[in-house]
Amino acid sequence: MRDMIAQSPPGVQNLVAPLFACEGRDVRNEIPSMPGQYQFSCDLALETVQRWAAKGIRAVLLFGIPAGKDEQGSAAWSADAPVQRLAGMIKSQVPEMLVITDACLCEYTSHGHCGPIRNNNGKFIVDNDLTLESLGKIAVSQARAGADVVAPSAMMDGQVAAIRKALDAEGFTDTAVMAYSAKFASALYGPFRDAAQSAPRQGDRKTYQMDYRSPRQAVLEAQADADEGADIIMVKPAGAYLDIIAALRGVVNLPLAAYHVSGEYACIKAAAANGWIDERAVVLEMIHAIRRAGADVIITYFAEDLADWL
Ligand code: PBG
Ligand code: ZN
Repeated sequence: MRDMIAQSPPGVQNLVAPLFACEGRDVRNEIPSMPGQYQFSCDLALETVQRWAAKGIRAVLLFGIPAGKDEQGSAAWSADAPVQRLAGMIKSQVPEMLVITDACLCEYTSHGHCGPIRNNNGKFIVDNDLTLESLGKIAVSQARAGADVVAPSAMMDGQVAAIRKALDAEGFTDTAVMAYSAKFASALYGPFRDAAQSAPRQGDRKTYQMDYRSPRQAVLEAQADADEGADIIMVKPAGAYLDIIAALRGVVNLPLAAYHVSGEYACIKAAAANGWIDERAVVLEMIHAIRRAGADVIITYFAEDLADWL
C-alpha cells in the first residue's frame, strides 16, 4: 500500500550522471575527495557511459579538464577539447544517451573564474558581457560536437539569451538549454573544484553566484531564464535548498532540475566510510526529498548506485 500511494517516486529516468573528461588515453584518476568518481580520458569515459547505459541511465553531464589553460579560457570552445570529443563519441557509440554539456569557463581559465576578468581599480571582477560572447562560442562548439543540451553554469546575467541566440544563428535550433538558474555561492562545491581543477586562484564567486541569505532572488533568476528561453531550470545545491526547489516549482512551469553537488556526495561518502550512516538508506532518503520538493531531474554522483537501488 505504501508503494501504491507514494507520490511520484524518483526513477532512473530522472537521473543525470556527471562525468569528468580529461586528455590522454587510459587515464583513470580517482578524485580523492569524491571516492568512486574519476577523471577519465575519453576512451575510458566512453566505456563508463556504455556501462551506465546498460544500467538504464539515460543522461550524462560532461565536464572537461583541458590540457592547457589561458586568461580567456579558449580551450572551452575548441573542437578537440575533451568534452567536445567525448560528446561526439557518445553520440556515435551510445546514441540513445542524452548528452548534456556544462558550459562555463572556470575549468579553462588560468585564474579559475567563470569568465574573463578585468582590473577594476585594483579589484579583479569578471566581465559579464565579455563572458556572454565566450559562452555563445562554447555552446555552439558543444552543439556542433553533438550535445543535445547545453547547460550554462557561469551565472552571468543574460547567459541564456546569449546562448539561445548563438545556437539559433548557427542552425542549432533544436539544442536545448538547461540553465543553472539558482546557483548559490556554496561551500559544497569544494570537491568538484578538486575534480575539475577549477578553484579560483584569488577571490571567490560571490560577485556572480547567488547569496543564500537572499532566497527571493532565486525566483527572479528563474523567471529571467524562462523569459530568455531556457528549456529546463536548475537549483544548485539541492539538499540544503529544498525550499528553493519548492518555491520555483510553484512559480515557473518549466521542467526543474536539482544538482546534488560534490560536497553533498563527499559528506555522505565520508560518513558511510566510517560506518556512521547507512549510505544506501541516506542516499535514497535525500533523493526522495529532492524529488518531493519538486525536482523533475536530479543530477547526482550517486546515479550509478541509484540505478541499482531505485
Ligand atoms: C562550474 C561548476 C561548478 C559546479 C558545476 N559547475 C563549481 C563552481 O561553481 O565552482 C559544482 C558541481 C559540484 O559541486 O558538484 N561553474
Ligand atoms: Zn564556472
